[in-house]
Amino acid sequence: MENSKIISTEGLIKWFPIGGGKFTALNDINLTFGKGEFAGIVGPSGSGKTTLLNIIGSLDVPSEGKTTVLGQSIGELSHKKAAKLRNEHLGFIFQTYNLLPVYSVYENVEFPLLLLGKNAEERKKAVMDALEWVGLTDKVKSRPAQLSGGECQRVAVARAMVKKPVIVLADEPTANLDAENSHNILQTMENLNAEFQTTFIFATHDDKVKKYLHRKVSLFDGKVSQDELVEKVGNG
Ligand SMILES: Nc1ncnc2c1ncn2[C@@H]1O[C@H](COP(=O)(O)OP(=O)(O)OP(=O)(O)O)[C@@H](O)[C@H]1O
Ligand SMILES: [Mg+2]
Repeated sequence: MENSKIISTEGLIKWFPIGGGKFTALNDINLTFGKGEFAGIVGPSGSGKTTLLNIIGSLDVPSEGKTTVLGQSIGELSHKKAAKLRNEHLGFIFQTYNLLPVYSVYENVEFPLLLLGKNAEERKKAVMDALEWVGLTDKVKSRPAQLSGGECQRVAVARAMVKKPVIVLADEPTANLDAENSHNILQTMENLNAEFQTTFIFATHDDKVKKYLHRKVSLFDGKVSQDELVEKVGNG
């Protein structure tokens, strides 16, 4: 695994104002992630997984401490610069897919490329490649309502990967899937990780996901309680 650090948090604290006081959701998080990692943030409900993923994804800002993603300090970025960072380098996969219902599979996957101003020819090639990775080339014209949950999640993976981002952040990506679909999705993401050196960071409490992780960061009450590398047998 390459060692260049592309994400780092130093003394990251996140608190939310609640009823005149404040609730500390993340309490002194010090972590780094390198290029090509396949890592999970695990821990009980309310331990801070989504909060941490949102800050790494520049969807939220730290209250204290420094969080750097691809050399940029989250929290010091303007809204415009944060949006640029997300559009250019980050892919997101959410628990509830967040597909646009009136658009086709093709259009949903194409969307991030429109934001990047890619021309029609580049878009078509990239969209068809991404749908190929997730095995959905026969569903290009379908709308999300015509797909199964597993297929919707595969569209969401294709949309996150279509621009070959440096980092993909996935929040409970298998929460709505059965064992077989979860396995297929994880296998697909593991292949993309190996092929493109995309860094994947999951937030999950799904045991099926945990089996795939190469690194497991455990959160408890907003603190890192464990950070372990998982030995992969026969993984070159
Ligand atoms: N906007 C907010 N305002 C106030 N408190 C918040 C806010 N967002 C999150 N919290 C609190 O911060 C804590 C961590 O929330 P977070 O969503 O990160 O947990 P999680 O580990 O992702 O849990 P789950 O496994 O249930 O998704 C929770 O106690 C939550 O209530
Ligand atoms: Mg969560």
